[in-house]
Amino acid sequence: MASPPRVCVVGGGGFVASWLVKLLLSRGFAVHATVRDPRDPKNAILTQLDGASGNLRLFKADVLDCGTLAAAFAGCEGVFHPATPVPGDKIVNPEKELMDPTVKGTKNVLEACSATNVQKLIVVSSVAASCFDPNWPEGKLKDESCWTDKEFCKDTQNWYSLAKTEAEEMALEYGKKNGLHVVTFCPGLVVGPLLQHVAVNTSSKVLLYIIKGGPDTLSNKFWPLVDVRDLADAMLLAYEKSESSGRYICSLDQMDIKDLVSLMKSMFPNYNYTDKMVDVDYKVYTTSDKLKNLGWQPRKLEETLADSVEYFEKAGLLQDADGKPCRLPYFYRVNAEE
Ligand SMILES: NC(=O)c1ccc[n+]([C@@H]2O[C@H](COP(=O)([O-])OP(=O)(O)OC[C@H]3O[C@@H](n4cnc5c(N)ncnc54)[C@H](OP(=O)(O)O)[C@@H]3O)[C@@H](O)[C@H]2O)c1
Repeated sequence: MASPPRVCVVGGGGFVASWLVKLLLSRGFAVHATVRDPRDPKNAILTQLDGASGNLRLFKADVLDCGTLAAAFAGCEGVFHPATPVPGDKIVNPEKELMDPTVKGTKNVLEACSATNVQKLIVVSSVAASCFDPNWPEGKLKDESCWTDKEFCKDTQNWYSLAKTEAEEMALEYGKKNGLHVVTFCPGLVVGPLLQHVAVNTSSKVLLYIIKGGPDTLSNKFWPLVDVRDLADAMLLAYEKSESSGRYICSLDQMDIKDLVSLMKSMFPNYNYTDKMVDVDYKVYTTSDKLKNLGWQPRKLEETLADSVEYFEKAGLLQDADGKPCRLPYFYRVNAEE
């Protein structure tokens, strides 16, 4: 019997990555998953996934250490790289907190792919790398040809967008020069249930804050959203389709936070919801037509919201057990200096 295709997922315990590992195992892949700390309780879910006992191997690796990545990639035909920090608070040291793990980390992933003869690499970038172009024509939908302006990011101290843009550009260029098939993904805000009940990632905290409220004022941004499971599907689709190429914007719906709150109130009327919100002139209109033309079929937003709320309930996150107020991630805060 032929052995199953073998791939590696970098940072396998993350929100997006853990769903991807689950999906790959369910499709019969042999999966290498890297984690920084095998004892971190959030990574325990990986070994409990269906198929893990026969087809999952965990590797301790850091993206800042190319050698640890190469050890995990050995024998793999493909690699998925979603492992970069997604900060929830104001960045104090951009180089250390974001630029190094995102840009140097991606460089190390690329070089480790070359060193181990990996054929195809899927990199998770962000819509943050494809939407901040002050010269983009007013009213024109942002597609894959739109790149975030790096000088604009420096001027506005938007370090996350700067790091994601530099890393994505570098990955695509490296792929062309070195014969590595690189495909990048630019997802909107990723929401949906988590696989573990131990640590909540930054984007899920936005939804949690909307439901619970707290001390922070939400800025009513118009921003694209995508379900974490649909993002995992999209990445596997692009991995399996030989014709996939370049970058893919990956978002289902885009809406004002205010409209998201109204939709959630209509679906789940029994929560308090945040009432602190101010309107801002901030609209990001994107299209995911390129991904849909590849065959991507995302679920409806209502299903994502229902599954997210069910998850929050089951995880006990809607009760204030520890008495600590819920904080809103920095990117959506109006009182962002705090
Ligand atoms: N969530 C969103 O709304 C969103 C939107 C657009 C794009 N994205 C992108 O999607 C990807 C996954 O995001 P997520 O929401 O799943 O975030 P997450 O749950 O916080 O996962 C981030 C992962 O990166 C890993 N990581 C960070 N620094 C690392 C390092 N030095 N070496 C190895 N691994 C490292 C983390 O490992 P540890 O567990 O060891 O910390 C974790 O597994 C990121 O690239 C992010 O930029 C996310």
